[in-house]
Parts: sequence; structure tokens; C-alpha cells
Amino acid sequence: MNVLVNGEPATTIDVMDRGLQYGDGLFETIAMRKGRPRLLAYHLERLAEGCNRLGIASPDAAVLGREIAKTATAPDCVVKVIVTRGSSGRGYRPPTNAAPTRIVAAFPWPVLAGERTPDGARLRFCDTRLSSNTRLAGLKHLGRLEQVLARGEWDDEDIAEGLMLDEAGMLVCGTQSNLFVLAGEELLTPRVDRCGVAGVMRRAVLEWASRRGMAAREVAMRPQDLFAAAEVFVTNALIGALPVRELDGRVLGRGTIAVEFNRWLAQV
Ligand SMILES: Cc1ncc(COP(=O)(O)O)c(C=O)c1O
Repeated sequence: MNVLVNGEPATTIDVMDRGLQYGDGLFETIAMRKGRPRLLAYHLERLAEGCNRLGIASPDAAVLGREIAKTATAPDCVVKVIVTRGSSGRGYRPPTNAAPTRIVAAFPWPVLAGERTPDGARLRFCDTRLSSNTRLAGLKHLGRLEQVLARGEWDDEDIAEGLMLDEAGMLVCGTQSNLFVLAGEELLTPRVDRCGVAGVMRRAVLEWASRRGMAAREVAMRPQDLFAAAEVFVTNALIGALPVRELDGRVLGRGTIAVEFNRWLAQV
């Protein structure tokens, strides 16, 4: 692992950092492909918007770009960027003068979820529910305990992802992905205005669909809608679009949208 903390090589942070104490910060997981950070502008925009919404001073985009390039020593790797509010004394009250902590770390390209089942991923439903909070919805903040508990629900290596519902039983996303469904001619994805992360790959799919003149909408989605869909796929910054073959042991519809999107993604 190759790590910069506030621009300097390091592997530790202050124990009073609010990212550690309270999850008071944000992160981005960026795919480096052929030496280029994929969808970098989307990552930087989401990070800046998150900083703005949380009242954290946003790191300079040019500085981050340089640090991402510096840590990424392999052409294909994963770069994780973490920005926290910085260190403070004990207590939740956000300090007015904290200096944000910036961590940029590169990791080897991983074996991705779904690679074990090349003709389509197997998914399950998780029991752990997502709680609603409009102030946090969409953000990629550091508070990921719901996802940690959900991902702890299974250890079958062949299950690529678990889908998560909100308190009302509506679909939101996967533990580490967003969800898309082709219903008739329309591409649908659950809204992320109460909980869930507004993924960069989700944004890329929605924009790609709109450029092709394909109807794409954010909706309230019920779990049973997946079984009637023509195609289901999940997305994130590393996997692109991953077609889903099976959900809770039931075979799903198979289409070509995910494959077509990935073909486009391979060129960006
Ligand atoms: C909870 C959650 N939702 C959605 C996503 C997908 O986001 P992105 O496309 O930005 O990788 C992730 C990615 O890790 C995630 O952890």
C-alpha cells in the first residue's frame, strides 16, 4: 500500500481525528485503468459536494489529482481518497478551525465481485436495513456500519453482492453498489434522496442512457419488481456494470444494457 497523509508519506493518523472518532468525513474509491483515474471529475465533484454539505473545507482538486497520480504506482490499481474534518478535542461539536485530514492510498487491483460467476452475478437480499436521513442521503460519508453489518450476513464467495432495503421495505442499493433495472424500454434505479450513495457509476449510466435517448428514471422500487425485470445490474466505480443472473436463488431476466454500457466505459 502506498499512502500519503496530507501530502506526506505516512501510514498513521492522529487518534483524535474525527474520521476515526465519529466517521466525520467522506471517501472516494477510484479505479485507475491504464494509468488514468476513471471518472475522476465525477469523484472530485461528489467529494466537493459532500464537503460542502458537511461544512468541511474541500481539498484543492489539483492537489488531489497530483496525489492520486503520485500514489498510483501501477497502471491498474484502486486509489482511495479519504477527507475528514480533521482532529479535535473530545465531543461531537464540530470545531470551527479544524484542518481537514487528506488521505490518499493506492491498493492493488482486486478480484472483483462477480468474477467467480462469469455468466452473471448471484445476489441475495440483506436483512440489515438502511435508515433514512435526508442530510446524509447520497453522500459517500465514512459512516458505513450498515454496509459492514449487511456484508457480514454471508460468506458464500459465489454471492457477489447483497441488496439492501430501507425501513419501509423499498429497495435502495447493494452493500457496495447501486442498482439498475430494465423495465420494458425504461431504465430504472432507486432514488437515493433518503438513504444510499449517489454512485459515480450510477451517474455515468444515467448520463449514458440519456445520450442514447433511452428513458432512465429514479424511482421507488419494490423488491418484487426485480423478478419481473428484463434485466438487472449493479454498478460501482470498480466493477462498472455487473449483470445479475440470480437473486436469492431465482433466475432473473437477461439483457444487453450492462454489456453495452461496459463497452462504452472501456473507452473512457
Ligand atoms: C453503499 C454504496 N453504494 C453505492 C456505491 C457505488 O458508488 P460508486 O459508483 O461511486 O463506486 C458504493 C461504492 O462503494 C457503496 O459503497
